[in-house]
This record gives sequence, structure tokens and C-alpha cells, in this order.
Amino acid sequence: MEFIKVTNYQDMSDKACAIMIEKINNLKNPVLGLATGSTPEGLYQKIIEQYKQGKVSFKDVTTFNLDEYVGLSREDVNSYYRYMQEKLFNHVDINLERVHLPNGTASDLAEECRMYDKQIEQAGRVDLQILGMGINGHIGFNEPGTPFNSRTHVVDLAASTLEANARFFPSLADVPTQAVTMGIATIMESKEILLLVSGEQKAEAIARLAEGEISEDFPASILRNHPNVTVVVDEGAMVKL
Ligand code: F6R
Repeated sequence: MEFIKVTNYQDMSDKACAIMIEKINNLKNPVLGLATGSTPEGLYQKIIEQYKQGKVSFKDVTTFNLDEYVGLSREDVNSYYRYMQEKLFNHVDINLERVHLPNGTASDLAEECRMYDKQIEQAGRVDLQILGMGINGHIGFNEPGTPFNSRTHVVDLAASTLEANARFFPSLADVPTQAVTMGIATIMESKEILLLVSGEQKAEAIARLAEGEISEDFPASILRNHPNVTVVVDEGAMVKL
């Protein structure tokens, strides 16, 4: 696991953007794993800027997002599908047929999860997976206690995650309590992983990632066993190291 230390959120986003563009430009049919949340918003803004300047094209890019809320349709303002459209897809030349997010309204969610893993496999696996990290070490929506061998599955969201995500909803009671998430084993099969971490609220989690034991109690710790992980971390998130 390689740590790249940067000054602040902007620098983290710039560095992540450079890594992502290099990956897209060097592969014939790049497969990207994408995340939502606050962390990658700056990255997506930078990528759009670079796209507008002709530095990158999404024409041949396939994407798989990490997760989606159960019960929210694609059109719902709080769905991750909508987030991805607004923050990235609507602004670049991506073919929407190559865009994949779990369908949180599928009538058979277990089948949806199986299909999602199969689609990732058929696409030749993820070349570069972007990850953020929860304050409890979750990756995707794999909360503490999730088996390291898990595939894409339905999860009950932890109380701390519901509280953290309530800022996007009218009230805490409106936050969906379940999500579909890529499993930890699915994430670990990505060829390369880029974990982005910014801000003091993540300082404890970064310290645990860097120095704690590898345990299902702290899902992100498994990344230490992956051969190709880069962590771009800013000064705020490093105050406890
Ligand atoms: C989002 C996701 C989550 C977030 C994590 C951090 O698709 O899978 O694991 O990356 O909750 O969220 P932010 O970036 O909002 O701090």
C-alpha cells in the first residue's frame, strides 16, 4: 500500500484526477470502479474540466459503481445513479449503456447481486477502483463485521453511516436503511485501487488503516493485502499518524 501525502482536498482531487486520466488513456477499454459521497466530488469536477480541454475521453470507458440504496429508483434525487449523472456522466462523452450501478429497486435483489458480480467478471474486472472510506472503516457499504470473502450483497446500514449520510436527506428518518454494495472480495479483485481520504474526521480511520491490525472489524484494513493500492491522503486526515 503506497501513501501519497497531499496538502488538502483540492490537491487530493488533482492527484486522483491525474491517476485516473493516465489509466483511461493507457487502456483500450478501461473499466473503472466508481464511488459516490463527498470524497470523489472534487475528482469528478477536475475530470470534467480535463474532458472539456480534450485531455480525456470516456468513449470506451465502462463503469461499475460500488453501491446503491435499496428502494430508490434511478430518478430519485438521492439515488447514487442520479448522483453519478449529475456529478459526472451528464458532462462527459460516456456511453450510458456501459454504465453500471446496482439496481436498488430490483424485485429479486439476490439475483441482482449475482448478476452484478457476473457483469464485472464479464467486463474483465475493474482496472481502477476509486474508493472513499467511512469513519468506521467501511468501503462501499461493507460495514464492520462484513466477511472479507463477501460478494455483492444487500446490507443493513450502520447507525453511524445513516447519521453521516443524513446530510443529503430531509431528515435522518428519510435515509434508506439498506443498500446493495459490491462485496469486499469483489472490490479486492480490482486490478488497482485508489483510496481517497480527506479531512480530520477521517484521521482516526487513517491511523487504523496504516497501523492497526487486518480485521473484519475494520473493513478497509483488508486493502493492505492487495498488491496495488494507492492511498491519497491530505494533511487533515493525517493528524493522528
Ligand atoms: C460511496 C461509498 C462509501 C463512501 C464513504 C465515505 O459510494 O461507497 O463507502 O466512500 O461512506 O463517504 P464520504 O466520501 O461522503 O465521506
